[in-house]
Amino acid sequence: MATFKINCAIILLLMSNCFTWSSASYTPNRAVSDTPRKLQYLLEPPVHVEVTSRRGENVTLPCILRTKPSHYKIKWTKLEPGHNGQENIIMISNAKAFKPYGHLGQRASLRRAHSMDASLHLSHLELEDGGRYRCELINGIEDENIIITLRIEGVVFPYQSKNGRYKFTYYEAKEACAEQDGVLATYSQLYRAWTEGLDWCNAGWIHDGTVHYPIVQPRPVCGGDLPPGIRSYGPKDQKHDRFDAFCFTSQTSGSVSYISGSFSFDQAVHACKHQGAELASVGQLYAAWRFQNYDQCNGGWLQDGSVRFPISNPRKNCGGMPEAGVRSFGFPSKTTHLYGAYCYR
Ligand SMILES: *[C@@H]1O[C@H](CO)[C@@H](O)[C@H](O)[C@H]1NC(C)=O
Repeated sequence: MATFKINCAIILLLMSNCFTWSSASYTPNRAVSDTPRKLQYLLEPPVHVEVTSRRGENVTLPCILRTKPSHYKIKWTKLEPGHNGQENIIMISNAKAFKPYGHLGQRASLRRAHSMDASLHLSHLELEDGGRYRCELINGIEDENIIITLRIEGVVFPYQSKNGRYKFTYYEAKEACAEQDGVLATYSQLYRAWTEGLDWCNAGWIHDGTVHYPIVQPRPVCGGDLPPGIRSYGPKDQKHDRFDAFCFTSQTSGSVSYISGSFSFDQAVHACKHQGAELASVGQLYAAWRFQNYDQCNGGWLQDGSVRFPISNPRKNCGGMPEAGVRSFGFPSKTTHLYGAYCYR
């Protein structure tokens, strides 16, 4: 279910006046001007608009007309940071026709709940749909736009190669995340994960080709005396430099279950198959932990050959750490007969 959040309280902490911020939150399309123009046709979004949803769900990005000019079009665009060149148009619509564009256009429609409604409906959300969207009213004279942020709710997890630390080029990191049912995290996803407690002392690639690691508890080996924060190496050579990966995933349509046993990796594969399932990916286990509070105090094989277990209620003898999280035994020898199996169906 999509939720609609108005973060005025947070903005108020940063700005003394909510309204000042509000009137500056849209950009006049043509004229570059320091004095924000009052919107004539579109209703201003309430101060700071972020719509939150999850993978697989449908969402509506609000855009409501205040008054209707006699002739106009509505154009929805996804704003891609660092993406110079062609704009990423999703659809253009007038009173009669609706024309979808590109990958997002396939899943887009106008809600048209009433005659002033130009809200965009997006179905079957994907991991990469998060970002900023622009609703533009074009009447040839005074075009106007508002910007809405869509946030895909999810979880960021660090991922390391089975061959050890710092083995991925950027492209390999991207592939590794895809194999674990994820995508490389964006900086804002990593930042949010850090605010939620992600502490990881190995640097990893993120979506824009930069390299970082998030530290909540500063310690000498993880950036020295710096205060808590995201340690950044900045952009790195995507073909030659090697790091770990920070992957992002969201809810899944299937579910994860545990089969207890003392399996080798191959036996674990068969145990899942026997139940009409397959070994879960790391991303699927993280999603179950994050969205279903999945808690199981037993190491189990995953598809990549790693052994992990999800803890939602930290307790003694379950990994020994005070925080909730997915614990890892790394990549034991596949012939070790010691672990259960996490299956996904
Ligand atoms: C999402 O939208 C699609 C197409 O518009 C529709 O078929 C589907 O039932 C919707 N799903 C939910 C969960 O509302």
